[in-house]
This record gives sequence, structure tokens and C-alpha cells, in this order.
Amino acid sequence: MAIHQKLHDRLEELRRRNAEAEAGGGPDRREREHKAGKLTARERIALLLDEGSFEELDKFVTHRCTDFGMEEHRPAGDGFVTGYGRIDGRLVYVFAHDFTVFGGSLSEANAAKVCKIMDLAMRAGAPVIGLNDSGGARIQEGVMSLAGYADIFLRNTLASGVIPQVSAIMGPCAGGAVYSPAITDFIFMTRNTSYMFVTGPDVIKTVTHEEVTKQDLGGAMTHNATSGVAHFIARDDAECLAMIRELMSFLPLNNLEDPPRRVTADPWDRVEIALDHLVPVDPMLPYDIKDAVQAVVDENYLFEVQEHYARNIVVGFARLDGRPVGIVANQPAILAGCLDINASVKGARFVRFCDAFNIPLVTFEDVPGFLPGTQQEFGGIIKHGAKLLFAYAEATVPKLTVITRKAYGGAYCVMASKHIRTDANFAWPTAEIAVMGPEGAVNIVYKRELDRAPEAERERLRQEKIAEFRERFANPYVAAERGYIDAVIEPSQTRAKLITALRALETKRDSNPKKKHGNIPL
Ligand code: HXC
Repeated sequence: MAIHQKLHDRLEELRRRNAEAEAGGGPDRREREHKAGKLTARERIALLLDEGSFEELDKFVTHRCTDFGMEEHRPAGDGFVTGYGRIDGRLVYVFAHDFTVFGGSLSEANAAKVCKIMDLAMRAGAPVIGLNDSGGARIQEGVMSLAGYADIFLRNTLASGVIPQVSAIMGPCAGGAVYSPAITDFIFMTRNTSYMFVTGPDVIKTVTHEEVTKQDLGGAMTHNATSGVAHFIARDDAECLAMIRELMSFLPLNNLEDPPRRVTADPWDRVEIALDHLVPVDPMLPYDIKDAVQAVVDENYLFEVQEHYARNIVVGFARLDGRPVGIVANQPAILAGCLDINASVKGARFVRFCDAFNIPLVTFEDVPGFLPGTQQEFGGIIKHGAKLLFAYAEATVPKLTVITRKAYGGAYCVMASKHIRTDANFAWPTAEIAVMGPEGAVNIVYKRELDRAPEAERERLRQEKIAEFRERFANPYVAAERGYIDAVIEPSQTRAKLITALRALETKRDSNPKKKHGNIPL
């Protein structure tokens, strides 16, 4: 009886300790979070993972700080919840800051908790998802918490390109703490309840005398639309977690796996007659490239990444024949689809992610060139445009390109042209592939002739030359004659053509020369 009682007591103690750890900062602080429209760390993990799949680690870890009276308060778990679980049955590691315990601040002890799951994730080849909601470095621990951050930054860096890393910002994220999410592959932010900045409004006011609110400075829309730091914006915590689950459905668990395939009811050879009429006859008129992309991919579904940033290029995930692909598409409806600094950087980072994780790239091209202007040149469009070129050229995943209309100048070379190892290059009959558009070309090539022509004759002559140039060069056939285009296709058949090419590339093998790493123009 005594033995039974003892065992019972031990179990009771475990249950009591578990309950204490799970209570976090207590009901009042939880209530405060709920009132602010936020969920707690544990509620978030429960929504993120398959039901009942979470296995917590280090639940009883406490901090070891004895300054500022901290020894009086040593809650189990120390404000971070870490462990692993499943999303659609697939393994992921996760950590979540619990804002109800010391404001989710990072101590030496919970930095070690994060490092532990990151090391496990690297050994298992599984993604890491971080749910950030933290006051930053635990002030009472001083340099020890800074060291903890640096330990995490190192692991983020070493894991880059090996396992997908995803960050959700669901509360404060400030100071150097922003650099862990920044190194990860994708940043989600919740509208109204999250912010990220290196220095906050108070410091800014002191240093530059600017007045700005937290939200304007580093809110979800600021980073989704203006800075390009974030990739997704969610209405609230629940939507954010659902979006992360969806993102994971496109990704392999690590760089040695292929992305997960799905059975699709969408016929591989579906014909889309509407595509034959999508591109306007007048080359100056815009259209929405997303109409082309959505018409072609499985179930017409594109999971767009950085939807609100550099909208002159569209990037995102979709499926063809059930197989995840990365879509990169110039958007003629915005800035005529020109490549500028922001679009180049956005495209380059996405291309590199897909290449790192074996996701084939499908490029839809309608680009009149790089955006002209002093702002672009002074801002370093040369260097930034080169990033996109470098990323495409370096990529060894299956690469497929469809030129829908314009493919001019350097932008032709950059956008997954045949010359930088693209496997399948298609053009619609509306394609115009040349060094530049007919107007620009005629003004240069025939400058002397036009200058010499009598004033009354000049415009007629210019138009004649433009028509001649358009007829001769603004078409896909010169490139097709050289083999730079593999086939000129009927737009309505694009889906079947892409899927057939993708199937033929399933066994593709290609590699880059051995080196420590390249030197992408940063
Ligand atoms: C210890 C912290 C903390 C921190 C918040 N708390 N941040 N404890 N270290 N960094 C505690 C608070 O004392 C409070 O405890 C509880 O968390 C909730 O905080 P509140 O201030 O009541 O919440 P709120 O009003 O919502 O404000 C949230 C906040 C604010 C904006 C995050 O707490 C804040 O400004 N914190 C400090 C942020 C900061 O400067 N961190 C250091 C950044 S430098 P009680 O017990 O009162 O409830 C950094 C460097 C990283 O992180 C470098 C990496 C290389």
C-alpha cells in the first residue's frame, strides 16, 4: 500500500509540474494576450500541428540567473515552448515564445532549448518553424542572452539550404532578434499584432527626430509591401498558422528529398482556349500574368509569395501534374513588367530557395527590360539585377520558360533563357524576342537616316522602319531558328507542354563546379 501511495505521489508530482509549466505566466497574462487578439504559445502550437502530435522537450528547463531577484522566479520552461510534431503527417520541429513569461524574452537557458531542437532537426532532416513573440534579449541576463541569440544565428545560417526554416512574427520582434527570422526562408506576420524593427520609435526619435508609430515602422504591411522583409501577411494567429501548414505542403522536409507530390484530378492535357486571346494585339497594352499562370497550373491555384511587394514580378508555389513548382512571372500590369531593384531581389531569393529544395522553376516572361532611371542606377540595379541572373544561372533544378510576349535586352538573358541552362524554352506566337523594342531600335539604328530625311517625311519613314523591324525581329521565330526557343506553342496548350517537359526532366541531373561557395553579388 505504501509503495502504491509513493508511486501515486510521484505521478501526482509529475502532473502538478506539467500543469505548472503549461500554465505559463498564469490566467491574467493569458487573458491579456487574448484581449490583444493573440493566442498563447501552446494554443498556437496546437493549431499549427496535427492534432495531438506535439511532443514537448525541455518542459522543466529553468533559467539560472540570480541577478535582479530572478532567483525568486524560475518558471518551468522559462518562456519558450519547444519540441516536434507533424504537419499532414510530416515531421517538423517547432519553438514558440510564450509572451506571458518574462515577455517571451530569450535567456541563456531557452536559447539552449532552441539550439537543441535545431540540432535535432538538422540530424533528422526536418524543417524548423519558429513562432516569435518576444521582448528580445532577457535584460536581466545581459551578454548571456546575446550569446544565446548568436548561437541561434549560427544554426540558422548552417541550416540554410539544408532544411526549410520558417518564421512567424506574432508579437514584438525587435533589436538584433530580428536577424534570426531574417536568415530563415520565409517570414509570416500577423496584421495589427506583430512588428519587427532593429531600433524602435523612441530611439529613432532621439537620433533622427522622426516620429513614427510601431506599426508604421515595422508592422505587417510595412514589411510585406514596403521593405520586402516579410513574405506573407495573415489576418490573425489562426490564419497565419493555417498558411504555414499550407506552405509546408509544397516543400520537401530537407534538401535531399523531392517535394511532396499530390494526386490531382486536373487533366494534364487540359486545353485553355482563353489563353489564345490573353495577350492584347497592341503590345503596349497590359494584361494580368496571373491569369496565364492560374490557367495553366493544377486547379488554377497559385500560392503567392510576397504578394504585396515588387508586384511587377509574381512569385509563388503551384503544382503541375501534382508536383510542386516555383512560379516566377513578370507582371505586365505593373510597371509594364520591367525588372527593377526590388523585383530582381525578390525573384532571386525565390529562385535560390526553389533550387536549394529541388523545386522545379517555371518562368512566365513578358519583360520590356530593366527599369530606366537615376533612382535605379544610383540604387545599384546593376548589382541587384545581377542577383537574379546569378540565381537563375546557378540553379540546377528543372527550369522551364514560357515567353508570352516581350523578352527584350538583358532581361531576355536573365529570365531563364536557354543560355543559362534552362531545359525547356517555349514561346507563344505573340512573343517578341530582340535586343530592344521596335521604337527604341529604329531611333538608334536609323538615327542618321531619320535626321537626314526632310522634316515632312521623317515620321512616315520612322513608322515604316518600325513596322519593318517589328515584322523582322519582334517575333519568336528568329530565336526559334537558332534553337534558343525549343518550340513555339499555341498558348491554349501550355499546360500540356509544360507537364510533358517536366515529366521528361524528372531524372534531370546537373551540378555546379565544386567550390566553397559562389559569390553572388550581394
Ligand atoms: C526581460 C522582459 C523583456 C526583456 C519584456 N519583459 N521584455 N523581461 N527581458 N527583454 C517583461 C516585462 O518586464 C513584463 O514583465 C512582461 O515582459 C511584459 O512586458 P510589458 O512591457 O508589460 O508588455 P508590453 O506593454 O506589451 O510591451 C512589450 C515590449 C516591452 C514592447 C516588448 O516589454 C519592451 O519594450 N521590452 C523591452 C524590449 C527590449 O528593449 N528588449 C531588448 C532588445 S535588445 P512583468 O513581470 O511586468 O509582466 C535585443 C538584442 C538582441 O533583444 C540582440 C541579439 C543579437
